Amino acid sequence: MYFGENVQLTGLELADAELILENWNNLELRLYLGSSTPASLEEEQEWIRNTWKMRSSGKGLEFAIRTFDGGFLGTCGVVRINQINRSGLLGIAIHSKQFWGKGYGTDAMCTLLAISFQILNLNRLELEVHSFNDRAIKSYKKIGFNEIGKRRQEHWINGKYYDSIIMDILREEFQTKFGMVDLTLKTIWNFSKT
Ligand SMILES: CC(C)(COP(=O)(O)OP(=O)(O)OC[C@H]1O[C@@H](n2cnc3c(N)ncnc32)[C@H](O)[C@@H]1OP(=O)(O)O)[C@@H](O)C(=O)NCCC(=O)NCCS
Repeated sequence: MYFGENVQLTGLELADAELILENWNNLELRLYLGSSTPASLEEEQEWIRNTWKMRSSGKGLEFAIRTFDGGFLGTCGVVRINQINRSGLLGIAIHSKQFWGKGYGTDAMCTLLAISFQILNLNRLELEVHSFNDRAIKSYKKIGFNEIGKRRQEHWINGKYYDSIIMDILREEFQTKFGMVDLTLKTIWNFSKT
């Protein structure tokens, strides 16, 4: 539905639950996301149904990240939308380790930001990331997120506490860097502006 450089963001279908389950119980993926309990097919189907309810209530929008030929890569979304302040909380996961570090996550996040600012008319977007998630932090800084603080020892992960880093980006910052985006066409992201 919405096109980035090499990914498209589309709605989630119940059939995606099986594609999610292909990697969702991989502990390495889940430790980056702050949860480490197994999930079942029924739970993933329920999660997808809940994303539809969230969408119709206007509180959030969750997408499947797919290649242009439809291959499932993961999910991303904006939740906790505040209609007065025009703010929201972002999340993203490329599920299969074989697709990490190939540009898909940065591409999907830029596309999600363009949707959030241009389609949903949001103004400020925030995310949180574990302090050890160097790949994610590098991607977010390249896009233009600012580190605005941390929650110390927020997460107990595999025997150790880790800080959460909080980052945000404003619409004016995104648009200064990337301009208005035509989400109906393949978009080439130009990261040269700082
Ligand atoms: C975080 C995530 C969305 C990033 O997407 P991605 O497609 O893997 O990342 P990209 O390739 O777009 O960008 C990663 C950047 O970090 C660099 N990088 C790759 N692996 C790295 C590593 N192990 N350590 C540090 N930097 C790394 C890349 O070179 C790239 O920088 P560049 O564009 O300047 O070359 C994805 O890795 C992911 O979903 N991981 C698992 C779940 C997760 O961590 N979700 C985020 C929770 S906040």
